[in-house]
Amino acid sequence: MTRGYFISFEGLDGAGKTTQISLLERWLQEHGIDYIRTREPGGTALGVEIRRLLFQQPELAITPLAETFLFQADRAQHFETVVLPALAAGKVVVSDRCFDSSIAYQGIAQGVGRDLVERLSHLAAQGHAPDLTFFLDLDPALVSARTDVTQDSSGQREQQSRFDSASEDFQRRLRDAFLFLAASYPLRIQVIDAAQTPEAVHQAILAHVISLIHS
Ligand code: TYD
Repeated sequence: MTRGYFISFEGLDGAGKTTQISLLERWLQEHGIDYIRTREPGGTALGVEIRRLLFQQPELAITPLAETFLFQADRAQHFETVVLPALAAGKVVVSDRCFDSSIAYQGIAQGVGRDLVERLSHLAAQGHAPDLTFFLDLDPALVSARTDVTQDSSGQREQQSRFDSASEDFQRRLRDAFLFLAASYPLRIQVIDAAQTPEAVHQAILAHVISLIHS
């Protein structure tokens, strides 16, 4: 392989990203493809601290605009120190979320503004974008059902996502935002029906990954 490839996964909380990233990771290993698995926020030591601020200190009452900058600070550090070096070394970078989340969550669903968040994301990512983005699409009613199951079976979750308890209306706005982004970037963002079995979702994802790395 002469160049790296950057693949990101997006979806509402509970759409099955973690499972799909693990399945892709296994496939990459089986095919001897050099890769890293990373995430936003939290792909660097600074990012771990930013996660703590965002998700574990509700008393800070972080405003949507301040939150926007925290996600972008995480991203700037992540691109400079993790993503770009790995791509330069010819690796496949698999990221649990990237800037489409900022555009959908902060820019559109939280009302900070799509254009502003796109411009900030462009700066933080130094003009780079994923080669391929999977939006795992699931009806918000099914997402909350799955999230409840996760909470019941594990007894407790390590940390409550900032938006897990958000209303179904917020989840619908988010889904619409992601679908709007997918329509704006149809070559980069692939919408995958996440209501299928995990294996069917995996196969749909693999078809795109294979055509990317053989392109
Ligand atoms: P996380 O615990 O990583 O869960 P998930 O499995 O849903 O990714 O939580 C990340 C949360 O942060 C998730 O609710 C989406 C949100 N987020 C933003 O609001 N803006 C962003 O730019 C990013 C990267 C994530």
